[in-house]
Amino acid sequence: MQTKTLRLKDLTVRNNVFIAPMAGFTDYAFRRFMIEFGAGLTFTELTSAKGIVYGSKGNEALLYTGDNGDEAFTAAQIFGSDPYYMRKACESEELEKFKIVDINMGCPVPKVYKNGEGCALLNNITLAESVVKECVKSGKIITVKIRTGMRRGDDFAAEFARMAESSGASLVTVHGRVRESYYSGEPDYNAIARAKAAVTIPLIANGGIFTEEDARLMIDRTGSDGVMLARGAVNDPFLVAKLTGTPINLTLKEFIIEHVKLRESTVGGRRAAVEFRKYVPCYFKGYPNAKELKTALLKAESSDEIIKLIEENL
Ligand SMILES: Cc1cc2nc3c(=O)[nH]c(=O)nc-3n(C[C@H](O)[C@H](O)[C@H](O)COP(=O)(O)O)c2cc1C
Repeated sequence: MQTKTLRLKDLTVRNNVFIAPMAGFTDYAFRRFMIEFGAGLTFTELTSAKGIVYGSKGNEALLYTGDNGDEAFTAAQIFGSDPYYMRKACESEELEKFKIVDINMGCPVPKVYKNGEGCALLNNITLAESVVKECVKSGKIITVKIRTGMRRGDDFAAEFARMAESSGASLVTVHGRVRESYYSGEPDYNAIARAKAAVTIPLIANGGIFTEEDARLMIDRTGSDGVMLARGAVNDPFLVAKLTGTPINLTLKEFIIEHVKLRESTVGGRRAAVEFRKYVPCYFKGYPNAKELKTALLKAESSDEIIKLIEENL
């Protein structure tokens, strides 16, 4: 892919291949590897603005960036619908190290949606505008991640992208699906293209990018300034390196072992093992004969056990 740098206010993002926020997946360890593999920007998983303001336990782990300078390649994603709390979160000590704060206007899950947060903001452009404007007042570089609407046939992306730009946002990401579709089906390339044509700030396209060819198609069809990989980056952790032309000195086996070790060093061996379970179906997609290994990995209780299983069987 032809990569390019992106300018967000006074900040230059090194390239236009982003790693999406993904709750439960894009923690510090995963982001660390994605940054090493060349990602232009990564995102923390969605974090409640009110939770940040009230110092909820657990946020520390979500917002952890280690000591390799990863905050320079990481945006904190927050969700909420109250402009006051959204701005307060941007101004909080917890987010001090992040230059970029991303506003979640795409989360479809009922728990978030019912509170008028996530993609529910797409139902109320006036409130969404206040949220963006208040966050911009914090002085952070504000980016916004939206969907194309609620129901099939909706096409809110251009209107919301325009609103985001006129409210002071520096970048918009469009997940080319409506709420009703959650994560399935082909992305709506036309809606993304219309959003791209509606703004002058960088517009990043997201949805259904699992291969280099998918990324090329996405850019060709939408004219977007870059791509955001989500499940594609977990299914193929080297996809970002392929797209950015970053040399990788690890095999998949070595990567998996290093990933488990890094998780162990941050969350401890047992938790690293339990949390590794959700990566198993993704990392081992290309190993149809590894059924027994996968079953054993899903039962492993410690990171040592996982590493031993992989070393002996992969
Ligand atoms: C398990 C999972 C967790 C996600 N968590 C978030 C999140 O925290 N914030 C967000 O904006 N989007 C989240 N998303 C949506 C992704 O960022 C992305 O928009 C979506 O998966 C579409 O891209 P894809 O088709 O390439 O996977 C999540 C998606 C998945 C599958």
